[in-house]
Amino acid sequence: MLIKRPRKWELSENLVTPENVFLNRRAFLRGTTASIAGAATLAVAGCGEAAEKTEALAGGEADLTAKAAELFPYPANTSIPIDRPVTDEEVSSTYNNFYEFGSHKRISRAAEALVSRPWKIEITGEVETPITLDVDQLIAQMPLEERIYRHRCVEAWSMTVPWSGFPLAALVDFARPKSSARYLKMQTFMQPSVASGQKQSWYPWPYTEGLTMAEARNELAFMATGIYGKPLGEQFGAPIRLAVPWKYGFKSIKSIVTFEFTGKKPTSFWEEIAPKEYGFWANVNPEVPHPRWSQATEEVLGTGRRVPTLMFNGYEEQVAGLYKGLEGQNLYR
Ligand code: MTE
Repeated sequence: MLIKRPRKWELSENLVTPENVFLNRRAFLRGTTASIAGAATLAVAGCGEAAEKTEALAGGEADLTAKAAELFPYPANTSIPIDRPVTDEEVSSTYNNFYEFGSHKRISRAAEALVSRPWKIEITGEVETPITLDVDQLIAQMPLEERIYRHRCVEAWSMTVPWSGFPLAALVDFARPKSSARYLKMQTFMQPSVASGQKQSWYPWPYTEGLTMAEARNELAFMATGIYGKPLGEQFGAPIRLAVPWKYGFKSIKSIVTFEFTGKKPTSFWEEIAPKEYGFWANVNPEVPHPRWSQATEEVLGTGRRVPTLMFNGYEEQVAGLYKGLEGQNLYR
């Protein structure tokens, strides 16, 4: 990566939210409603459903964050097929790509400098009502669950990770995009004083990624707000990051501040830097090598083993239909 210069997804009855989690969630919503401390942080005063819900949740930010933390662990969606043991937290939390904090894997200490709460998120562009809200106000309105996903980096290493969060489709519904929205563009924070990598002006900061609307609505596209049953650490992209497991890891943008619905295909960070090596689609395909290395196998971190890489990282059944009719494009870079 480094450049110098039955439908398996439907929850079965035994997977419905456990009662204690459900009750905690009701208490959280009641608490936040009761503690209305000020005006909601609406970018545009609107009378849409999202605006109304968010106004009802306006509360002290610290209060919201504490209550959001109490919602862990989220109920497990065990209907997701997974055939590998979860990667040891010690391994996954000390081997990260987060170029804002350095172009190597040992960024976890440096990333602690990021103040990830309170955290504002902007939902903008081709939507009914643009809105800016606190991440915990958003989380409180989302259907929360835990999913175990494979995570395959374009550099040919992989992990298996229990993400906590909510389907990206729920955020799309919340945003109410107009019919003119064809893509969802996402961007990471821009704070060079905290993230020293952002002082390196040859990188096209802020980190940017995008999905088509169909990809964003796919059942696998997930917004992670936690990992290993607790809130995300900064090195994983706190407080909110994308997880799209059928794509190479660089699509899974960390520490997002902006969700922009747009008619124009976004250019992603790595595509901007090296368009011959990284593209918009970046679907995992063992048969299409990266220009500088094979994608046929991957190192499973923490095991000392290399295993064959699977088409769409093993998620072909859920996502292959997204790419019908696009065969002429390079979907695997
Ligand atoms: N998001 C931002 N903002 N900055 C980054 O450098 N790296 C990407 C992706 N998201 C990156 C990012 C890459 S290359 C990978 S492989 C994954 O994050 C790594 O996620 P992990 O550290 O949680 O394993």
